[in-house]
Amino acid sequence: MLDRAANAPELPAEVARRRTFAIISHPDAGKTTLTEKFLLYGGAIQMAGQVRAKGEARRTRSDFMKMEQDRGISVSASAMSFDFGKYRFNLVDTPGHSDFSEDTYRTLTAVDAAVMVIDGAKGVESQTRKLFEVCRLRDLPILTFCNKMDRESRDTFEIIDEIQENLAIDVTPASWPIGMGRDFIGCYDLLRDRLELMDRADRNKVAESIAIEGLDDPKLAEHVPADLLDKFLEEIEMAKELLPPMDPQALLDGTLTPIWFGSAINSFGVKELMEGIGAYGPEPQVQSAEPRQVSPAETKVAGFVFKVQANMDPKHRDRVAFVRMASGHFKRGMKLTHVRSKKPMAITNPVLFLASDRELAEEAWAGDIIGIPNHGQLRIGDTLTEGEMLRVTGIPSFAPELLQTVRAGDPMKAKHLEKALMQFAEEGAAKVFKPGIGSGFIVGVVGALQFEVLASRIELEYGLPVRFEASQFTSARWVHGEKAAVDAFSAANKQHMATDNDGDLVYLTRLQWDIDRVARDYPDVRLSATKEMQ
Ligand code: G4P
Repeated sequence: MLDRAANAPELPAEVARRRTFAIISHPDAGKTTLTEKFLLYGGAIQMAGQVRAKGEARRTRSDFMKMEQDRGISVSASAMSFDFGKYRFNLVDTPGHSDFSEDTYRTLTAVDAAVMVIDGAKGVESQTRKLFEVCRLRDLPILTFCNKMDRESRDTFEIIDEIQENLAIDVTPASWPIGMGRDFIGCYDLLRDRLELMDRADRNKVAESIAIEGLDDPKLAEHVPADLLDKFLEEIEMAKELLPPMDPQALLDGTLTPIWFGSAINSFGVKELMEGIGAYGPEPQVQSAEPRQVSPAETKVAGFVFKVQANMDPKHRDRVAFVRMASGHFKRGMKLTHVRSKKPMAITNPVLFLASDRELAEEAWAGDIIGIPNHGQLRIGDTLTEGEMLRVTGIPSFAPELLQTVRAGDPMKAKHLEKALMQFAEEGAAKVFKPGIGSGFIVGVVGALQFEVLASRIELEYGLPVRFEASQFTSARWVHGEKAAVDAFSAANKQHMATDNDGDLVYLTRLQWDIDRVARDYPDVRLSATKEMQ
């Protein structure tokens, strides 16, 4: 269990101002639009529209393939840093497609909070729920943005109830919408007692903000039409009675989420949300590791790889490892210890992802995300330190849910295929199993779309057409136990045995029945569906 209290005192000012978070949402709820407005307010882009123009568009299947091929684009959108007031925001992109849930899970290990965007008319949708569950596994603090309030949306209480019931989390209103759909005029900011009025004429204009001295201030009536005001005051009365007040500790514990209402496309409510992330969102948190946890207050540098992206330039087989800094003040050129290999590594060309461009990172603090170009030494789950043998924990690898056999179109190219597969495995894009009997490889993924993306990347990046074919197996389990027991088990189940891309032994399964049989017949052998990356 993490000791978050260890984080409380004396964070260096540079660390304390950092807010590292991801946005989770169902497709179409407005993640791209909101990201764009974040960058706009962060001064990172001059004009709305640039993020979309860069291809961070909705992920229909064809868009996605194209985006995956256009490596540079997805990389620059993977992590974005920008300043907002006194804060430095690091926004980490979560893959949009549900087929990439494992990647999403690992991305969420690199952030300290999540912003959940929901569509005011649709409420909590399937993908929101799934991503929320992943956040819950890590007790991540969640801030909620209810978008598209300029359209006909659900009743405010109904939206809040749905979140509370569906996601089993308390909700506290940080703002309250006034009017709805065509009558929506803005929000009352409950945290700061301000009236925010939306400008429908200019989508990029920041809302007019009027300071209000409490709810009986006559100024309210000057700005809000009488019928809307009556309804608003009635609702607020009820909200105060029925809903919990803002509690920063409950937010940090992941048991309460504040909700802001707004319209990303109209730049409305976004600034208040950003102020909320600054004021209530957590600063960099302690990181679980072995043999001891790492505090961001420590002066020595430690960081871990949560994502690897390869072949950004197909001509050079370079890769970028995305590293979340867990502690210390990193400076370019530093020599860090790559804990897994115990070898020193000079970090000479780290990159920082400032909105749309990559830039050399001269320095980085706990909470920041830097990209380290390398030739394959850095893998997901690796830890970098100033010499201490620390290993960051909690970055799992999940058993695949779909398996297929892969063959090179040209049988003479089997070696090339192996190389390509190993590389994607290191990137975390797939699991590769080499069966003990027979030739060829079995590839495991979490979602079917990944096979298509893999086939297209292997062809594009290695010039190697491949075929994926049905396999008799459906999943894999890692095998644990005393050597003698495991050896006896392997010998008796040769048809099922394989090694994964790290050389670890797995048992390939066809049905749940296989797993039950092992539990029954081999009590000294344990099968597991997850493995810690290291
Ligand atoms: P996503 O990344 O979560 O998939 O959503 P995205 O931002 O792409 O938004 C999905 C659609 O919702 C887009 O419309 C976008 O313009 C619209 N949208 C986003 N925020 C708001 C809002 O506050 N109010 C309203 N009314 N619409 C909003 P589209 O028609 O699919 O695309 P486009 O033609 O606008 O680009």
